[in-house]
Amino acid sequence: MLPRHILRVDQFSRGDLLQLLAHSAEMRRVVAAGGDKRLDGKILATLFFEPSTRTRLSFESSMLRLGGNVISSESAEHTSSAVKGESIEDTIRIVEAYADAIAIRHPLAGAAETAASVASVPILNAGDGPREHPTQALLDLYTIYDELGRIDDLTVALVGDLRFGRAPRSLAMLLTRTENARVLLVAPPGIEMSGDVLAYMETHGVAWEQLHDLEEALPRADVIYMTRVQKERFPSVESYRRVSGSYRLGSEHMKLLGENAIVMHPLPRVDEIDTLVDADPRAAYFRQARNGVYIRMALLDLLLGPRLLTA
Ligand code: NCD
Repeated sequence: MLPRHILRVDQFSRGDLLQLLAHSAEMRRVVAAGGDKRLDGKILATLFFEPSTRTRLSFESSMLRLGGNVISSESAEHTSSAVKGESIEDTIRIVEAYADAIAIRHPLAGAAETAASVASVPILNAGDGPREHPTQALLDLYTIYDELGRIDDLTVALVGDLRFGRAPRSLAMLLTRTENARVLLVAPPGIEMSGDVLAYMETHGVAWEQLHDLEEALPRADVIYMTRVQKERFPSVESYRRVSGSYRLGSEHMKLLGENAIVMHPLPRVDEIDTLVDADPRAAYFRQARNGVYIRMALLDLLLGPRLLTA
Protein backbone atom coordinates (compact mmCIF):
# COMPACT_ATOMS: atom_id res chain seq x y z
CA MET A 1 0.00 0.00 0.00
CA LEU A 2 1.54 3.29 -1.09
CA PRO A 3 1.86 6.13 1.40
CA ARG A 4 -0.60 9.00 0.96
CA HIS A 5 2.19 11.50 0.29
CA ILE A 6 5.42 10.71 -1.58
CA LEU A 7 8.02 12.51 0.51
CA ARG A 8 11.04 10.26 1.10
CA VAL A 9 12.31 6.91 -0.13
CA ASP A 10 12.17 5.36 3.34
CA GLN A 11 8.38 5.30 3.00
CA PHE A 12 8.66 2.47 0.47
CA SER A 13 8.92 -1.17 1.48
CA ARG A 14 10.44 -3.70 -0.88
CA GLY A 15 6.89 -4.88 -1.61
CA ASP A 16 5.78 -1.33 -2.53
CA LEU A 17 8.79 -1.04 -4.77
CA LEU A 18 8.09 -4.28 -6.62
CA GLN A 19 4.45 -3.26 -7.06
CA LEU A 20 5.52 0.11 -8.42
CA LEU A 21 8.04 -1.38 -10.86
CA ALA A 22 5.39 -3.73 -12.22
CA HIS A 23 2.87 -0.90 -12.46
CA SER A 24 5.39 1.29 -14.29
CA ALA A 25 5.92 -1.46 -16.84
CA GLU A 26 2.14 -1.49 -17.33
CA MET A 27 2.18 2.31 -17.77
CA ARG A 28 4.78 1.91 -20.49
CA ARG A 29 2.28 -0.28 -22.36
CA VAL A 30 -0.44 2.32 -21.78
CA VAL A 31 1.79 4.98 -23.37
CA ALA A 32 2.59 2.68 -26.29
CA ALA A 33 -1.15 2.21 -26.81
CA GLY A 34 -1.70 5.99 -26.94
CA GLY A 35 -2.58 6.68 -23.28
CA ASP A 36 -5.97 6.37 -21.59
CA LYS A 37 -8.49 8.39 -19.58
CA ARG A 38 -8.32 6.87 -16.11
CA LEU A 39 -7.53 10.24 -14.46
CA ASP A 40 -10.21 12.10 -16.39
CA GLY A 41 -11.44 15.03 -14.31
CA LYS A 42 -8.40 15.04 -11.97
CA ILE A 43 -6.01 17.98 -11.74
CA LEU A 44 -2.33 17.93 -10.81
CA ALA A 45 -0.67 21.18 -9.70
CA THR A 46 3.08 21.43 -10.25
CA LEU A 47 4.61 24.00 -7.94
CA PHE A 48 8.30 24.48 -8.74
CA PHE A 49 10.43 26.89 -6.74
CA GLU A 50 13.65 25.69 -8.44
CA PRO A 51 14.62 25.12 -12.08
CA SER A 52 13.52 21.89 -13.73
CA THR A 53 13.04 20.44 -17.18
CA ARG A 54 12.60 16.68 -16.79
CA THR A 55 10.84 16.42 -13.45
CA ARG A 56 8.15 19.03 -14.06
CA LEU A 57 7.47 18.17 -17.67
CA SER A 58 7.43 14.42 -17.03
CA PHE A 59 4.99 14.87 -14.13
CA GLU A 60 2.78 16.93 -16.42
CA SER A 61 3.13 14.54 -19.34
CA SER A 62 2.26 11.62 -17.02
CA MET A 63 -0.92 13.31 -15.88
CA LEU A 64 -1.95 14.18 -19.45
CA ARG A 65 -1.23 10.66 -20.74
CA LEU A 66 -3.70 9.33 -18.16
CA GLY A 67 -6.38 11.80 -19.23
CA GLY A 68 -5.89 14.20 -16.32
CA ASN A 69 -5.23 17.95 -16.37
CA VAL A 70 -2.39 20.11 -15.12
CA ILE A 71 -1.99 23.57 -13.64
CA SER A 72 1.54 24.81 -13.13
CA SER A 73 3.53 27.42 -11.29
CA GLU A 74 6.92 27.31 -12.93
CA SER A 75 9.65 29.54 -11.44
CA ALA A 76 7.37 29.95 -8.43
CA GLU A 77 10.31 31.54 -6.58
CA HIS A 78 9.77 34.56 -8.85
CA THR A 79 6.15 34.37 -9.90
CA SER A 80 4.13 32.92 -7.01
CA SER A 81 2.92 34.73 -3.92
CA ALA A 82 6.04 33.42 -2.13
CA VAL A 83 7.61 36.60 -3.53
CA LYS A 84 5.10 38.56 -1.42
CA GLY A 85 6.06 36.55 1.65
CA GLU A 86 3.45 33.78 1.62
CA SER A 87 4.46 30.66 3.59
CA ILE A 88 4.60 27.17 2.05
CA GLU A 89 1.69 26.18 4.32
CA ASP A 90 -0.55 28.98 3.11
CA THR A 91 0.35 28.35 -0.54
CA ILE A 92 -0.62 24.68 -0.13
CA ARG A 93 -3.91 25.57 1.61
CA ILE A 94 -4.80 27.57 -1.48
CA VAL A 95 -3.51 25.25 -4.20
CA GLU A 96 -5.22 22.18 -2.69
CA ALA A 97 -8.53 23.90 -3.45
CA TYR A 98 -7.56 23.93 -7.13
CA ALA A 99 -5.97 20.49 -7.56
CA ASP A 100 -6.28 16.82 -6.54
CA ALA A 101 -2.51 16.38 -6.03
CA ILE A 102 0.48 18.71 -5.79
CA ALA A 103 4.03 18.02 -7.00
CA ILE A 104 6.36 20.46 -5.28
CA ARG A 105 10.05 21.31 -5.75
CA HIS A 106 11.58 23.69 -3.26
CA PRO A 107 15.11 24.69 -2.18
CA LEU A 108 14.42 24.03 1.52
CA ALA A 109 15.13 20.56 2.93
CA GLY A 110 11.87 19.32 4.44
CA ALA A 111 9.64 21.61 2.33
CA ALA A 112 7.55 18.70 1.03
CA GLU A 113 6.94 17.51 4.59
CA THR A 114 5.87 21.00 5.57
CA ALA A 115 3.48 21.00 2.63
CA ALA A 116 2.14 17.55 3.58
CA SER A 117 1.56 18.63 7.18
CA VAL A 118 -1.26 20.91 6.08
CA ALA A 119 -2.39 19.29 2.82
CA SER A 120 -5.65 17.44 2.31
CA VAL A 121 -4.49 16.19 -1.13
CA PRO A 122 -1.42 14.02 -1.89
CA ILE A 123 1.92 15.86 -1.98
CA LEU A 124 4.68 14.54 -4.24
CA ASN A 125 8.20 15.66 -3.37
CA ALA A 126 9.86 16.67 -6.65
CA GLY A 127 13.09 17.61 -4.83
CA ASP A 128 13.54 19.36 -1.50
CA GLY A 129 16.83 21.21 -1.60
CA PRO A 130 19.83 18.93 -1.07
CA ARG A 131 17.83 16.29 0.76
CA GLU A 132 15.60 13.96 -1.23
CA HIS A 133 14.28 13.30 -4.70
CA PRO A 134 12.20 10.17 -4.21
CA THR A 135 10.53 9.98 -7.64
CA GLN A 136 13.98 10.26 -9.24
CA ALA A 137 15.29 7.33 -7.18
CA LEU A 138 12.22 5.30 -8.13
CA LEU A 139 12.75 5.96 -11.82
CA ASP A 140 16.44 5.17 -11.38
CA LEU A 141 15.62 1.78 -9.91
CA TYR A 142 13.05 1.15 -12.64
CA THR A 143 15.77 1.95 -15.18
CA ILE A 144 18.18 -0.51 -13.54
CA TYR A 145 15.45 -3.16 -13.57
CA ASP A 146 14.60 -2.44 -17.20
CA GLU A 147 18.22 -2.35 -18.38
CA LEU A 148 19.78 -5.14 -16.32
CA GLY A 149 16.73 -7.31 -15.61
CA ARG A 150 17.19 -7.26 -11.83
CA ILE A 151 17.29 -5.00 -8.78
CA ASP A 152 19.29 -7.38 -6.55
CA ASP A 153 23.00 -8.28 -6.42
CA LEU A 154 24.08 -4.92 -7.78
CA THR A 155 27.25 -2.91 -7.45
CA VAL A 156 26.34 0.74 -7.97
CA ALA A 157 29.00 3.46 -8.17
CA LEU A 158 27.68 6.91 -7.23
CA VAL A 159 30.03 9.51 -8.67
CA GLY A 160 30.32 13.27 -8.18
CA ASP A 161 28.52 15.57 -5.78
CA LEU A 162 27.22 13.16 -3.15
CA ARG A 163 26.97 15.87 -0.49
CA PHE A 164 24.49 18.21 -2.19
CA GLY A 165 23.07 15.84 -4.79
CA ARG A 166 19.59 14.77 -3.66
CA ALA A 167 19.34 12.19 -6.46
CA PRO A 168 22.32 10.05 -5.32
CA ARG A 169 21.22 10.43 -1.67
CA SER A 170 17.75 9.10 -2.41
CA LEU A 171 19.09 6.31 -4.63
CA ALA A 172 21.60 5.17 -1.98
CA MET A 173 18.76 4.92 0.56
CA LEU A 174 16.39 3.18 -1.87
CA LEU A 175 19.04 0.53 -2.60
CA THR A 176 18.52 -0.70 0.97
CA ARG A 177 15.26 -2.21 -0.35
CA THR A 178 17.22 -4.44 -2.72
CA GLU A 179 19.17 -7.54 -1.75
CA ASN A 180 22.92 -7.78 -1.61
CA ALA A 181 23.64 -4.25 -2.83
CA ARG A 182 27.13 -2.80 -2.78
CA VAL A 183 27.61 0.95 -3.19
CA LEU A 184 30.89 2.53 -4.30
CA LEU A 185 31.04 6.20 -3.36
CA VAL A 186 33.32 8.28 -5.58
CA ALA A 187 33.35 11.96 -4.58
CA PRO A 188 35.84 14.82 -4.45
CA PRO A 189 37.07 15.81 -0.97
CA GLY A 190 34.53 17.95 0.87
CA ILE A 191 31.43 16.73 -1.00
CA GLU A 192 31.36 13.11 0.10
CA MET A 193 28.12 11.32 1.02
CA SER A 194 26.75 12.54 4.37
CA GLY A 195 27.01 10.47 7.52
CA ASP A 196 23.23 10.06 7.85
CA VAL A 197 23.02 8.21 4.53
CA LEU A 198 26.11 6.10 5.32
CA ALA A 199 24.56 5.11 8.64
CA TYR A 200 21.22 4.35 6.97
CA MET A 201 22.90 2.08 4.43
CA GLU A 202 24.85 0.38 7.17
CA THR A 203 21.86 -0.36 9.40
CA HIS A 204 19.93 -1.67 6.38
CA GLY A 205 22.63 -4.04 5.19
CA VAL A 206 24.10 -2.17 2.20
CA ALA A 207 27.88 -2.51 1.95
CA TRP A 208 29.56 0.74 0.96
CA GLU A 209 33.09 1.87 0.22
CA GLN A 210 34.56 5.27 -0.44
CA LEU A 211 36.94 5.53 -3.41
CA HIS A 212 38.72 8.45 -4.98
CA ASP A 213 39.48 7.05 -8.42
CA LEU A 214 36.75 6.63 -10.97
CA GLU A 215 39.08 4.16 -12.73
CA GLU A 216 38.96 1.93 -9.68
CA ALA A 217 35.14 1.87 -9.63
CA LEU A 218 34.59 1.27 -13.36
CA PRO A 219 35.55 -2.41 -13.69
CA ARG A 220 33.62 -3.33 -10.54
CA ALA A 221 30.33 -1.57 -11.19
CA ASP A 222 27.09 -2.77 -12.76
CA VAL A 223 25.90 0.83 -12.73
CA ILE A 224 27.98 4.00 -12.95
CA TYR A 225 25.74 6.82 -11.70
CA MET A 226 27.30 10.15 -12.66
CA THR A 227 26.06 13.40 -11.11
CA ARG A 228 26.46 17.13 -11.62
CA VAL A 229 28.27 19.22 -9.02
CA GLN A 230 25.37 21.23 -7.56
CA LYS A 231 26.77 24.72 -8.18
CA GLU A 232 23.72 26.47 -6.73
CA ARG A 233 24.26 24.91 -3.30
CA PHE A 234 27.88 26.02 -2.81
CA PRO A 235 28.59 28.97 -0.52
CA SER A 236 30.97 30.57 -3.06
CA VAL A 237 32.13 30.27 -6.67
CA GLU A 238 35.65 29.42 -5.45
CA SER A 239 34.43 26.51 -3.34
CA TYR A 240 32.51 25.22 -6.39
CA ARG A 241 35.53 25.60 -8.68
CA ARG A 242 37.70 23.60 -6.28
CA VAL A 243 35.65 20.45 -6.95
CA SER A 244 33.94 20.99 -10.32
CA GLY A 245 35.40 18.97 -13.17
CA SER A 246 36.84 16.35 -10.78
CA TYR A 247 35.27 13.43 -12.61
CA ARG A 248 34.68 13.31 -16.32
CA LEU A 249 33.60 10.09 -17.94
CA GLY A 250 35.13 9.84 -21.41
CA SER A 251 35.41 7.20 -24.12
CA GLU A 252 38.68 5.95 -22.61
CA HIS A 253 36.82 5.09 -19.40
CA MET A 254 34.24 3.03 -21.27
CA LYS A 255 36.97 0.48 -22.01
CA LEU A 256 37.25 -0.20 -18.29
CA LEU A 257 33.49 -0.64 -17.81
CA GLY A 258 31.94 -4.12 -18.05
CA GLU A 259 30.18 -5.13 -21.23
CA ASN A 260 26.83 -5.49 -19.44
CA ALA A 261 27.18 -2.46 -17.17
CA ILE A 262 25.33 0.83 -17.75
CA VAL A 263 26.01 4.53 -17.30
CA MET A 264 23.24 6.60 -15.67
CA HIS A 265 22.87 10.31 -14.83
CA PRO A 266 19.78 12.10 -13.45
CA LEU A 267 20.64 14.97 -15.84
CA PRO A 268 21.21 17.81 -16.56
CA ARG A 269 24.86 17.11 -17.31
CA VAL A 270 27.47 19.82 -17.41
CA ASP A 271 30.77 18.18 -18.28
CA GLU A 272 30.67 14.94 -16.26
CA ILE A 273 30.05 12.77 -19.31
CA ASP A 274 31.74 13.42 -22.63
CA THR A 275 29.14 13.60 -25.41
CA LEU A 276 31.20 10.98 -27.26
CA VAL A 277 29.93 8.46 -24.69
CA ASP A 278 26.31 9.06 -25.79
CA ALA A 279 26.58 6.69 -28.75
CA ASP A 280 27.73 3.79 -26.55
CA PRO A 281 24.83 1.35 -26.03
CA ARG A 282 25.71 1.26 -22.32
CA ALA A 283 24.87 4.99 -22.02
CA ALA A 284 21.41 4.68 -20.45
CA TYR A 285 20.79 8.28 -19.32
CA PHE A 286 18.43 9.36 -22.06
CA ARG A 287 16.43 6.16 -21.70
CA GLN A 288 16.45 6.83 -17.92
CA ALA A 289 14.88 10.28 -18.41
CA ARG A 290 12.16 8.72 -20.58
CA ASN A 291 11.37 6.26 -17.76
CA GLY A 292 10.42 9.20 -15.53
CA VAL A 293 7.07 9.31 -17.31
CA TYR A 294 6.22 5.67 -16.52
CA ILE A 295 7.10 5.91 -12.85
CA ARG A 296 5.20 9.16 -12.37
CA MET A 297 2.19 7.77 -14.24
CA ALA A 298 2.27 4.76 -11.93
CA LEU A 299 2.45 6.96 -8.83
CA LEU A 300 -0.34 9.28 -9.99
CA ASP A 301 -2.53 6.34 -10.92
CA LEU A 302 -1.98 4.64 -7.56
CA LEU A 303 -2.61 7.90 -5.65
CA LEU A 304 -5.52 9.26 -7.69
CA GLY A 305 -6.87 6.40 -9.76
CA PRO A 306 -10.36 4.90 -9.58
CA ARG A 307 -9.26 1.92 -7.40
CA LEU A 308 -8.83 4.25 -4.45
CA LEU A 309 -12.31 5.69 -4.87
CA THR A 310 -13.89 2.27 -4.56
CA ALA A 311 -11.66 1.12 -1.67
C1 NCD B 1 18.37 16.44 -10.53
C2 NCD B 1 17.81 17.34 -9.43
O1 NCD B 1 17.08 18.29 -9.72
O2 NCD B 1 18.10 17.02 -8.30
N1 NCD B 1 17.74 16.61 -11.76
C3 NCD B 1 16.58 15.93 -12.00
O3 NCD B 1 15.58 16.08 -11.33
N2 NCD B 1 16.60 15.03 -13.02
C4 NCD B 1 19.85 16.50 -10.63
C5 NCD B 1 20.56 17.81 -10.81
O4 NCD B 1 19.97 18.88 -10.86
O5 NCD B 1 21.79 17.76 -10.93
